[in-house]
Amino acid sequence: VAPGHAAPHDSAVGHVTGRAAYIDDLPGPADMLQLAVGLSPHAHARITRLDLDEVRRQPGVVDVITAADIPGVNEVGAVYPGDPLLAEGKVRYAGQMVFAVLADTLDNARRAVPHAAIDYAPLDAALDPVASIAAGLTVLPEHVHERPLPAPALDRGATMASDTQTSGNAPAALAHAPHVLAGEQVIGGQEHFYLEGQIAQAEALDDDGLRILTSSQHPSEVQKLVAEVLGVSLNTIVAEVRRMGGGFGGKESQAAALGALAALAAQRSGRAVRFRLPRADDMQATGKRHGFHNRYRVGFDDSGRLTGADIELIGNCGHSPDLSEGVVDRAMFHADNAYYLGDARVTGHRAMTHTVSNTAFRGFGGPQGMMPIEAAMDDIARHLGLDPLDVRKRNLYDHERCETHYGQTVDQPLIGELIETLEASSDYRARRHAITAFNATSPVIRKGLALTPVKFGISFTAQHLNQAGALLAIYTDGSVLINHGGTEMGQGLHTKVCQVVARELGLPLERVRISATRTDKVPNTSPTAASSGADLNGMAAREAAITLRERLCEFAAGWLGVPGESLSLADEALIAGERRIGWHELIQQAYMARVPLSATGFYATPEIHYDRTTGRGRPFYYYAWGAAVSEVHVDTLTGEYRVARVDILHDVGDSLNPAIDRGQVEGGFVQGMGWLTSEELKWDEAGHLLTTGPATYKIPTCGDVPRDFRVQLLEGHPNSQATLYRSKAVGEPPLMLAISVWSALRDAIASLADYRISPRLDTPATPERVLTACRALHEAE
Ligand code: MTE
Ligand code: MOS
Repeated sequence: VAPGHAAPHDSAVGHVTGRAAYIDDLPGPADMLQLAVGLSPHAHARITRLDLDEVRRQPGVVDVITAADIPGVNEVGAVYPGDPLLAEGKVRYAGQMVFAVLADTLDNARRAVPHAAIDYAPLDAALDPVASIAAGLTVLPEHVHERPLPAPALDRGATMASDTQTSGNAPAALAHAPHVLAGEQVIGGQEHFYLEGQIAQAEALDDDGLRILTSSQHPSEVQKLVAEVLGVSLNTIVAEVRRMGGGFGGKESQAAALGALAALAAQRSGRAVRFRLPRADDMQATGKRHGFHNRYRVGFDDSGRLTGADIELIGNCGHSPDLSEGVVDRAMFHADNAYYLGDARVTGHRAMTHTVSNTAFRGFGGPQGMMPIEAAMDDIARHLGLDPLDVRKRNLYDHERCETHYGQTVDQPLIGELIETLEASSDYRARRHAITAFNATSPVIRKGLALTPVKFGISFTAQHLNQAGALLAIYTDGSVLINHGGTEMGQGLHTKVCQVVARELGLPLERVRISATRTDKVPNTSPTAASSGADLNGMAAREAAITLRERLCEFAAGWLGVPGESLSLADEALIAGERRIGWHELIQQAYMARVPLSATGFYATPEIHYDRTTGRGRPFYYYAWGAAVSEVHVDTLTGEYRVARVDILHDVGDSLNPAIDRGQVEGGFVQGMGWLTSEELKWDEAGHLLTTGPATYKIPTCGDVPRDFRVQLLEGHPNSQATLYRSKAVGEPPLMLAISVWSALRDAIASLADYRISPRLDTPATPERVLTACRALHEAE
């Protein structure tokens, strides 16, 4: 029951039997209509004619909606404007929604779409993020993160955060470094491929409001944007989320457009409306993980220890800001990964291109930001003839070298100890020897091995989002209903929050229940994102449970005539010394005595702050750590490979639920593997996405899970910060453990040149790219 117990996910049986209902499984209200949308065929064009009369005449069509029909504002941007609900005058990416058709059936709605007569005057499209940056095309102003300058430079001002700041300490450190290496890499984006696609349903609520069933990580934002599009107040809109069939960041901002269009259609027709994007439309119309183009220069001494680093990150944001301010910030915050960089400069660019606006995806830019320094670790090792693990270990944060390039102190640097443990448990050294010996005598098949660490900052870097609310009700039969602001997308948040409340009230898990997340129960919620769902909502629910517990104990003290401090709740009872009063009776008595049996709870993460103009502060309440050892076997004649074994040791503080946390580590790792190895997004030269379904876009399947997969949670290290029972967030950090697979592939390829050359390997490292890298090394030999 209690946190720490490996309770199964509350919908585990429903998930595997298919009985857990998603929005499209629900029987719709009578008369429900369906929506389909027409997408832009151009990356950038002016709309010169929009004739939808023929669409209107198609069978079953009830309404056709364009931007001109929007009563409120035509805008669903999450943070900054730039995302019109429907294109107006211009289109800014191929796949943008231009008009919507409302019909009696989904088939009729979809069949009517191609009858539109729309003329476009194509405009020049920016499709290359590097060219965009060269031309000054960005979605947001730029920021530079600088380490504080040492004394002599301070008179130039301690705040060094202008858009164009390019000098400082890092260049000096690099100029004086015994060795300098530079590199460049292209890191591909990633489609979320949630199994449940984007969907929303809108229906009348009472007399004058709307209820939106949404598959969204951010129901409060859906509520707000629906209200703004309709031109109504927020108290007339309820957004509700029972569960998502996966979100992975793709339903943080991207779900709002569906909610808004369904709501608009429902408002116009007076009928319930369901709007589900077919997979190919979903993949074209909604944002993905940002691809990055990274450059790095590192200075280091003969032992491989860094003395300075200059890292430049270009994120391809797509056509609008969406969440890219935070995504590129987080990439910059993670440019150090687990290493003390020395004198560092990290520059982030937010390139605008005429493609779909890229968005949150598990890690939120962190994974892309870590890739240059992990590449550099391998490069340094090859350059000096060292084992990459030794170079990594030489550079880890510890108690002395513990300040990041944005000024936050790393106050619980567990990584050294964690790596020692994993190095031993994975038998790294013996396997390294065996692999080197194997490769020396194997002309075609080459093995690779790599251990890579992860340090991931926990908290929203936008301070105001670090808050949560909860509402608890105890009913007269003693059952407990919890509402909180977090949403369930498979990650087990509801199970964890139930465990928290059960523990505080001394109840078995069966007594407490969470159903849907609703904006009329808990208002103004933050997205379930940044891995902080349990940290924030668990704390809020705990607050509410403590309030109720104290209230019940205070009442019982008066009733029983004993001091309140002597009372506690445990094992489904009130414990008063020798006396034991059952929970059910306690609640009955409290109700009769008119004790309020519901309470709210609220939590705001303390201590965090960050100043974007100076690029300094303490954006994260704490860091989560982990490390993985991956072994790959590569056929150097074809580029095909498999992941033979993976060992992971991951830090979740004192686990809230080891079964769920383990699942998150396994799932995150495999999703990260997909990102770095098989999932390839391809666009043609005109900016059309070519990979629009599972036949061309390869997510990992169960056959891709490492055959030998050993996952351990780090034990005996409670969070040094006062988090929920000293736990740590787990949702995103494990994804980056998959960098070990990519590093192991580079290791295997490097064996072709006797480990003297560090091969470039852009991602995803498909067999094609691996083969190209093998050939390049053969030629270099
Ligand atoms: N796990 C499952 N099964 N499905 C998901 O969609 N999303 C991930 C992660 N784990 C996701 C998941 C992402 S991107 C985040 S931010 C966290 O879960 C969000 O939930 P949490 O904050 O409760 O961990
Ligand atoms: Mo997760 S990318 O923060 O939704």
